[in-house]
Amino acid sequence: MSPAWKNIRADFPILDQQVNGKPLVYLDNAATSQKPRCVIDALTHFYERDNANVHRGIHALSMRATSAYEHARERSARFLNAGSPAEIVFTAGTTDSINLVANAWGDENLKTGDVILLTEMEHHSNLVPWQLLARRTGAKLRYLPIVPGDTGLLDMAQLSKVLTPDVKIFAFTHVSNTLGVINPAAELCAAAKKVGALTVIDAAQSAGHMPLDVRAMGCDFLAVSGHKMCGPTGVGLLYGRAPLLDNMPPYRGGGSMISSVEYFESKWAPAPAKFEAGTPNIADAIALARAMDYLDDLGREAIAQHDEKLAALAYHRITTEIPGIRVLGPAHHRSGVVSFALPGAHAHDVVTLADQEGIALRGGHHCNQPLMRKLGLNSTSRASFYLYNTEDEIERLIAALKKIQKFFAV
Ligand code: ALA
Repeated sequence: MSPAWKNIRADFPILDQQVNGKPLVYLDNAATSQKPRCVIDALTHFYERDNANVHRGIHALSMRATSAYEHARERSARFLNAGSPAEIVFTAGTTDSINLVANAWGDENLKTGDVILLTEMEHHSNLVPWQLLARRTGAKLRYLPIVPGDTGLLDMAQLSKVLTPDVKIFAFTHVSNTLGVINPAAELCAAAKKVGALTVIDAAQSAGHMPLDVRAMGCDFLAVSGHKMCGPTGVGLLYGRAPLLDNMPPYRGGGSMISSVEYFESKWAPAPAKFEAGTPNIADAIALARAMDYLDDLGREAIAQHDEKLAALAYHRITTEIPGIRVLGPAHHRSGVVSFALPGAHAHDVVTLADQEGIALRGGHHCNQPLMRKLGLNSTSRASFYLYNTEDEIERLIAALKKIQKFFAV
């Protein structure tokens, strides 16, 4: 493990506080991660020293801002092992990236009778944009099911039945935000390629948590949120293979995305500028690149192992020490997400009582309503781990769950 792991919690100022009189245990990382000091400093530095608009001015500050912004794009391309920085579009986050593909690629390429393939575990952000696209174009939605039971694994035996040549695009999550399942992205992309379907990977829960290599995965598009990987909120990435981005029309019009404008028509700038209308989220993109440096200093493989070790421990301890509880997802080879349902207690009550113990969980449907229905649940409580969490915090979680269970048993 790299020396950067020593005193890692001290890198995150927010962790050093009490909540309801107890030291904070932050286990809501699947919703958003905390930010290390270096990312906060990158934001402050930009606003204190370099703030200016990009791609417009030729004064010193504008050139510095442009250079830092384009460096962030180049850093993002390296982070994902994209072929070139031109394959990286800065967006507001995963939802925005997926909407971009559904609108810019989808409206141009789908027609009545075409099929959009999704999986049964998709977050609403990788489901609703496709429903809207289906409504606009007459394309149909189809789903790759999960296997019966609570492991939440995709039913790969069904893949060849649903991935037929009428499928034009297959959009799936890399890591489920509710189940903690890690899907076999490269295998799914290879299967899609065989029938001529494009692939969109929702990497909101995997980017920053494990190594990601878009070329090794063989995907056509991949969507990332900055705020779940130690970066700021409101910034994310869309990776798109160059020939696809080059041939897609813009999604939004405005300044910066044109090469020339007439009163009645315009010509677009090449990708990625074509997809970045208006003043972009400059400071946050730069700070996101700083987050990538931070994560790579720790090592993304080491982060993945850390997340998996904590999640496997939490899964084991919850299932063995909290009688009657239902825990979702596989026991091993999982991400840092562990969802559970305590019979007789609504998830919101569990989360409220955990908060009294200083523990931050998320409770609800996790923007996964169809999956919840499929599992016969209306909500779960969810603990999600990241690089600064510890085994001692799992101890605190287990103690809190025992107390909560006792409370509801009375
Ligand atoms: N997608 C985020 C979550 O799962 C907000 O909590």
